[in-house]
Amino acid sequence: MKIINVVGARPNLMKIAPIVAELSAYPQVQQLLVHTGQHYDDNMSAIFFRELGLPEPDIHLGVGSASHARQTAAVMVAFEQVLLQQRPDLVVVVGDVNSTLACALTAVKLHIPVAHVEAGLRSFDRSMPEEINRVLTDAISDWLFTSCADANENLRREGVPESRIFFVGNVMIDTLLRHRDRALERDTLRRYDLVAGYYGVVTLHRPSNVDDQDSLAGIVNALAEIQNHLRLIFPMHPRTRHNLQELGLADCISALPNVTITEPLGYLDFLNLMSNARLVLTDSGGIQEETTILGVPCLTLRPNTERPVTVMEGTNTVVGTDRQRIVEASLHILQTGGKQGRRPALWDGHAAQRIVATLLKAELNDEHIALD
Ligand code: UD1
Repeated sequence: MKIINVVGARPNLMKIAPIVAELSAYPQVQQLLVHTGQHYDDNMSAIFFRELGLPEPDIHLGVGSASHARQTAAVMVAFEQVLLQQRPDLVVVVGDVNSTLACALTAVKLHIPVAHVEAGLRSFDRSMPEEINRVLTDAISDWLFTSCADANENLRREGVPESRIFFVGNVMIDTLLRHRDRALERDTLRRYDLVAGYYGVVTLHRPSNVDDQDSLAGIVNALAEIQNHLRLIFPMHPRTRHNLQELGLADCISALPNVTITEPLGYLDFLNLMSNARLVLTDSGGIQEETTILGVPCLTLRPNTERPVTVMEGTNTVVGTDRQRIVEASLHILQTGGKQGRRPALWDGHAAQRIVATLLKAELNDEHIALD
């Protein structure tokens, strides 16, 4: 059985790592890792390979940054050549980035079955590029591996047959649980002069937040207020750094005395920072899940989330992007300690095992790997 695993952007790396590790235990499986090159900086890609023990990609498509259409098309053209040469039995895609959709679409058009890991998440907000990627990838994938019960419901509502839906848990949490101890051994806090429990972590990169002057200015104003009460550390995504400069807000934020801006951090330092934080402010999807497992209060600076289980069962609160609301919610956490939360079902570190067991069982039973 020959499997191609696909990665493109930073959050794909934490999701694919446990699957690659699990597959490597089966000598009957030949696996190849393809990196589209959607993310390419050392601190957005290579550092995660080193820290997560991922093997070097077997094939690198080197696509880089471009508009959505150009990037998606470039991945498709390059990946088609790979599929024609390699003829895998299955392509595994994870998450919701442009590379996820591009590779799934290329594979199904060549009649190669696709497994989508982290299927069924829906924000019901089609202005998000990721929502389009999620809906379309799920519509064409043969195997839909889900991380929560609401994802199963979303897929059923869209008419996906039960036989394609596999509730396996959360691969990103597999990676977190596997590396947490190692992350906590690091001297991250000392390097940034932070004290556990006395700082907040900020991340921002959603186009709806950082591409628009009013939204970005509102969030910067909120941070300016919060840092009067709590030291903040802000590892900055390249899109955000670029836009703060373009929109004339870079000087405002760098003048804030209690905000430390850093380059994007590696997996272990960032996990250490989250684990010891009083509070996390973010517009990331994965961080909503990670803070739920770490028991750290998370404020999601978006109008919605595709991960409602982190709100219902975890430590997440969706606060939107209104300056006043963000400040009030942050101060409330400082006063009360914030939500406690519990671990969602099957976020137990064994999702990749369930995925691989499901795929190999089908192969053993001599079912055609395509489900139809
Ligand atoms: C992408 C994903 C998003 C994911 C995020 C995680 C899509 C549509 N978006 O958003 O879902 O949450 O990754 O980080 O797939 N850049 C660099 N170095 C890099 C990569 C990007 O400087 O290694 C800069 C470039 O200026 C680029 C910009 O960041 O134009 C945006 O990169 P892109 O991959 O298009 O989208 P992200 O905002 O990173």
